Amino acid sequence: MWALGAWVLLGAVCAGSAQLQFNAIKSVEQTICNETVILPCIVTNLAQKSIKVMFVKWKLEKKEFFSFEGSTEKTHRNKNFSSAVLESVQNLSLGSASLSISKTQAVPGNYSCEVTESNREGETVIELIYRVGPGLPQVESSLIIFFLVWAVLFYWIQLGVTVSKGTTFQEMIGLIIAGIIISVVAVVGFILLVPDGFGPKNQAGLGLIVLPAVILVPLQYFLLKIVFKNNLPRFAVVLVVVLESLGYLIAVIGFALCMTACPPKNGAVVIAGLAIMALMAVVGLIYMIALGSCKKDQLPRKSVEEPLNDAKGVMLE
Ligand SMILES: *[C@@H]1O[C@H](CO)[C@@H](O)[C@H](O)[C@H]1NC(C)=O
Ligand SMILES: *[C@@H]1O[C@H](CO)[C@@H](O)[C@H](O)[C@H]1NC(C)=O
Repeated sequence: MWALGAWVLLGAVCAGSAQLQFNAIKSVEQTICNETVILPCIVTNLAQKSIKVMFVKWKLEKKEFFSFEGSTEKTHRNKNFSSAVLESVQNLSLGSASLSISKTQAVPGNYSCEVTESNREGETVIELIYRVGPGLPQVESSLIIFFLVWAVLFYWIQLGVTVSKGTTFQEMIGLIIAGIIISVVAVVGFILLVPDGFGPKNQAGLGLIVLPAVILVPLQYFLLKIVFKNNLPRFAVVLVVVLESLGYLIAVIGFALCMTACPPKNGAVVIAGLAIMALMAVVGLIYMIALGSCKKDQLPRKSVEEPLNDAKGVMLE
């Protein structure tokens, strides 16, 4: 009698513990950089360690979308989750029922993982959270904006100096339109780049900052050419233009490196390229003021220039 009573009691205790227990992971984070998302589900007290007696069910907000039957090794999935697979079927016998889903199919929400081992079962809930970011470090995006603003600003200053030294009306209008284009595109780029993260908008922003900056290279050349007219000091001009092109090339390489890594790396390369461009804009300006002004004193030269130029020159003096 006693033995029977003890046996019944023990049975009841065993039945009470016929619950599978899980590693308590409450949530996982997904960012734009996760190509696949792993929803962890680890049973810590499997008894038989055989997938033959196991059954796994995954639900999203209570709706089943995935099941795996150990005895037949058959998987069933909802068509919205066609990419869902157990992270490792072998590891299921060790307790891992973690699910892998492609990033396009993984929607944020509460997922539940239900595991059965013979007559024991258990369920755990994991929240998948979408987190914005990671993007370029704020220091890097600030420096990128800073150097482009610098380069564009010095373009406008050079333009002012050039106009004051005399340009034709068409040249002036052309240079002003080019300046407006590059300024507007840059501002749009800044607005898209600044928000946190490195999604398509931020990437487009960086593209709008880096790629159109190519315009600054020929513009630099034209400005110097206009100021120096036929007395273009070839070596120095070529140096400024070549270095500025080099800066542009470095910035584009940096941009390509940023686009191919997630989270973006090598923002520093973009910064270096834009810094060279900005610096060359300053060198160009110094050049223009220092050497361009010498030409002004040689008044006899002016008399052979176009009357329109002359008139402007007089007006501005
Ligand atoms: C996303 O990727 C990060 C870094 O590789 C990783 O730590 C994280 O667990 C991944 N998130 C998911 C839900 O798989
Ligand atoms: C998931 O469940 C938690 C806790 O019940 C809740 O706070 C959260 O809002 C839920 N998330 C979603 C996306 O429904």
